[in-house]
Amino acid sequence: FIDSVKAREIFDSRGNPTVEADVILSDGTLGRAEVPSGASTGEKEAVELRDGGQRLQGKGVSQAVNNVNTEINKALHGEDPFNQAHVDQVMIDLDGTPNKARLGANAILGVSMAVARAAAKATQQPLYRYLGGTDLELPQTFHNVINGGEHADNGIDIQEFMITPVERTSFRDGFEKIANTYHTLKKVIEKAGYTTGLGDEGGFAPDLKSSTEALQMLHDAIVKAGYTPGKEIAIAFDAAASYFYNRETKNYDFEGKTYTPAELGEYYIGLLDKFPEIISIEDPYGEEDWDNFAEFTKKYGHRVQIVADDPVCTNPKLIREAIEKGMANSILIKLNQIGTVTETLEAIRLARKNGYTTMISHRSGETGDTFVADFTVATNSAELKSGAPARSERVEKYNQLLRIEEELGVDGTRLAHFPDNVKFD
Ligand code: PGA
Ligand code: ZN
Repeated sequence: FIDSVKAREIFDSRGNPTVEADVILSDGTLGRAEVPSGASTGEKEAVELRDGGQRLQGKGVSQAVNNVNTEINKALHGEDPFNQAHVDQVMIDLDGTPNKARLGANAILGVSMAVARAAAKATQQPLYRYLGGTDLELPQTFHNVINGGEHADNGIDIQEFMITPVERTSFRDGFEKIANTYHTLKKVIEKAGYTTGLGDEGGFAPDLKSSTEALQMLHDAIVKAGYTPGKEIAIAFDAAASYFYNRETKNYDFEGKTYTPAELGEYYIGLLDKFPEIISIEDPYGEEDWDNFAEFTKKYGHRVQIVADDPVCTNPKLIREAIEKGMANSILIKLNQIGTVTETLEAIRLARKNGYTTMISHRSGETGDTFVADFTVATNSAELKSGAPARSERVEKYNQLLRIEEELGVDGTRLAHFPDNVKFD
């Protein structure tokens, strides 16, 4: 049984405080987990409890830590760590709010993940096996190699420009191609006279003039690295359009111009025509702009994967509504948007049952914790995005996948699992 839980304030990849939780079982087994934190957060995310005030720019999490050490510790003492759903429900009930605002989603998630870790360890299983059982495959990975939007101080309004291996090949082989392309991209950026400093997710953050220029650089880097765009390495982007949506005019203020929703759609399609290797677009419209998001899906969902992040925030209730509206054909999954392992699993099941793919995601503020790598394999999610093939808090997730691939011995079984209706030619 769970003997005790304990948390502490640690720091994330941006130097901001975050929660680390320890769960100690009656046999002495320790499960530990670290909680990530986003910058371009959705309005409907579960509440990340921050102290406010003067200390650490108001970002301290001492209250969340205290909630783990007192109330949650008391409530979970004696509970069964192998009954994740029950443990999570105890914390949800104890919190008592619809969005974990009282105890903090950062407090609850840290404990939730640490319980899974402790249970896996107590049964001497790797985490992916404990959570997932058999018949596991490795995901296709999406690597943010040019950072814009809220993740970098440049003029690019699209937040993430990603490259992804699309051949049926091993994870290792795909990752080698990504690493080669990343290094080639650095040369392409240098040659164009830009700086090669990095953004929050390990991608380059050159002060480019436009998103088109960023896509052209990705295209050139893929070719120069010796790969065929769209055949070996494809492109994806996260517009994170909530951040350039104008709530008053209901238009989009994007890179110095104003776009109506219809014009923004045409702009995206122009990009798809110019770069046919683009296979996935996340958050093309703002989180309040469900109608245009759904309209875009209806028109172009057969041509490209359309991922919903900010509008649904890994929340099963919102995902259900989005599916009813015909919005997107893929759901982004972030554990800390909803705050427990159990609810995240429910979000994934719901998406899959309705033919949506699931892309598991890191946050822009990360830690060394590799939970999402195991979680992606455990849930057989076809896709994972965890940033560039650089900076340890990003690469550790990929390194964990290399270890898992070795353990599973499933070399060569990886495959792009896009929705059946999406054609890539
Ligand atoms: P975030 O960005 O972690 O800063 O929210 C990731 C995303 O928008 O997908
Ligand atoms: Zn996003």
